[in-house]
Amino acid sequence: MKKLKIAVQKSGRLNEDSLQLLKDSGISIDNGKDQLKAEAKNFPAEIYYLRNGDIPQYLKDGVVDCAIIGENVLVEKGNDITIAERLGFSKCRVSLAVSKMFKYDSIADLNGKRIATSYPNTTKQYLALHGVDAELHIINGSVEIAPNIGLADAICDIVSSGSTLFKNNLKEVEVMMQSEAVLAVSPSISDQENLILSKLRFRMQAVLKGRKSRYVLLNAPNNKLDAIVSILPGMKSPTILPLADDKWSSVHSVVEQDRFWDVIDQLKEAGAEGILVCPIEKMVL
Ligand code: PRP
Repeated sequence: MKKLKIAVQKSGRLNEDSLQLLKDSGISIDNGKDQLKAEAKNFPAEIYYLRNGDIPQYLKDGVVDCAIIGENVLVEKGNDITIAERLGFSKCRVSLAVSKMFKYDSIADLNGKRIATSYPNTTKQYLALHGVDAELHIINGSVEIAPNIGLADAICDIVSSGSTLFKNNLKEVEVMMQSEAVLAVSPSISDQENLILSKLRFRMQAVLKGRKSRYVLLNAPNNKLDAIVSILPGMKSPTILPLADDKWSSVHSVVEQDRFWDVIDQLKEAGAEGILVCPIEKMVL
């Protein structure tokens, strides 16, 4: 039987969330910390634990069929690889930063300067787009130290919380791209493996939609039901059930997490009481 070869980061910021997403998608795997390959127990898939930077090449060569990878790495090393799903975790940006002492007005200030980075392609493209000619120093890791030791005037690296920049007395001056974890697909995936990939995507979409939503239950006086229902978006329309007290009803609906607090405020104002909010494990529309 054919198996889908899925690459995940062996170690690093995506590893844990990637394995959690597979687990939430009903794919159980043995803890693979010290192994390179693991079989999924209840899904036709093999998990390959690979170095982040190697994953785009493995996708291009068809060694793996798909991968959970940072978009930043994909743009840097595999711009031609298709993104099948955006996964909503490991959000970060790829940015240019300079010393806090650097008087920075615009990107033109980087003309003739030295930039240290592990993202040479992304940096080159961005500089070319803005007509800036700078000297790139390619280093792998601890890029933020470069300006402090006189190796570079600026750096280009990923920024998440910004604390690494802060600790190194650097300031972010240009956001070159926003990034998050994505499901990327090999250009040479076979039809059979593509079918398995569709099943995986279906499961992941259900998990991701669930993560973005909350199930809301509330009590509403019947004379305010119309106003309350009009506030609730729901999957189709809210469920309304009678309560023992015939002047009241129970209303159930799904609310997007982003809009959640706004909706709750409006519901309270419209007369809703006893509002309960529950997480949703999976959501199939
Ligand atoms: C990245 C990046 C920065 C840091 C930024 O390193 O290289 O050093 O994260 O994150 P922050 O804005 O939250 O401080 P990572 O820890 O992923 O390891 P790496 O050095 O292997 O890239």
